[in-house]
Amino acid sequence: MKSVLRPLIAANWKMNGLKAEGTALAAAVAAKAAAGGTALAADILICPPATLVALVGETLAGSPVRLGGQDCSPQAPGAFTGDIAAVMLKDLGCSAVIVGHSERRGSCGETDAIVHAKAEAALAEGLTAIICVGETAAERDAGTAQDVVGAQVLGSVPETADAQTLVVAYEPVWAIGSGRIPTLDDIAAMHRHLRTLLARKLATGADVRILYGGSVKPSNAAEILAIPDVDGALVGGASLNAEDFWAIVAAAPQR
Ligand code: PGA
Repeated sequence: MKSVLRPLIAANWKMNGLKAEGTALAAAVAAKAAAGGTALAADILICPPATLVALVGETLAGSPVRLGGQDCSPQAPGAFTGDIAAVMLKDLGCSAVIVGHSERRGSCGETDAIVHAKAEAALAEGLTAIICVGETAAERDAGTAQDVVGAQVLGSVPETADAQTLVVAYEPVWAIGSGRIPTLDDIAAMHRHLRTLLARKLATGADVRILYGGSVKPSNAAEILAIPDVDGALVGGASLNAEDFWAIVAAAPQR
């Protein structure tokens, strides 16, 4: 049985935002968090594109809103042109990093082994690894969604991870940016499955936060976040608007 887990609402800005917009958006979220004070029901994380991490970090100084990266290299610093090491994100004030997002698994050919290595690199620097998993539409239609997602978790999660350093984000590929979401029963079933797998794999696995991601918006956030094994959300498109993102934060249940 899992303990009661405080929800995490994470913003994935993807490849969006120039300096002015990024600063304004982060400042608007920080202002809402300040107004919410200790009544905030959820932890809040913003993952800007790499170019904005430093600036957003400065904007969030003194705020409870945390800072994260969208990807990191599996390597330590060295001759890897264009890549960003986990220690560099940490140096800018990040406490977490997304790894294995389906847009990277798809367009950059990231395998479970690569995602595993990236997560290990993040953990080695004390960053929380937010590992993304999710099935395609064809896999769901074929009835293999739980097998596919289960295999991704088992292949991507480092054995050294624990409930403090790992977050898993279930993001059906076909729900990302599409406006479509699985039924609430399908989300509940997948999260239950992931809880069971994580509890078997890691000593503290039952307490790993499992986020849902894929077309989360103000109009569906409350019903998704109320599902017992949903411990928060990873939000793409709706996180680019402070009002929408905050409505999702506000929908998180007090746990
Ligand atoms: P979306 O993206 O909210 O725009 O569907 C979620 C994600 O890809 O993390």
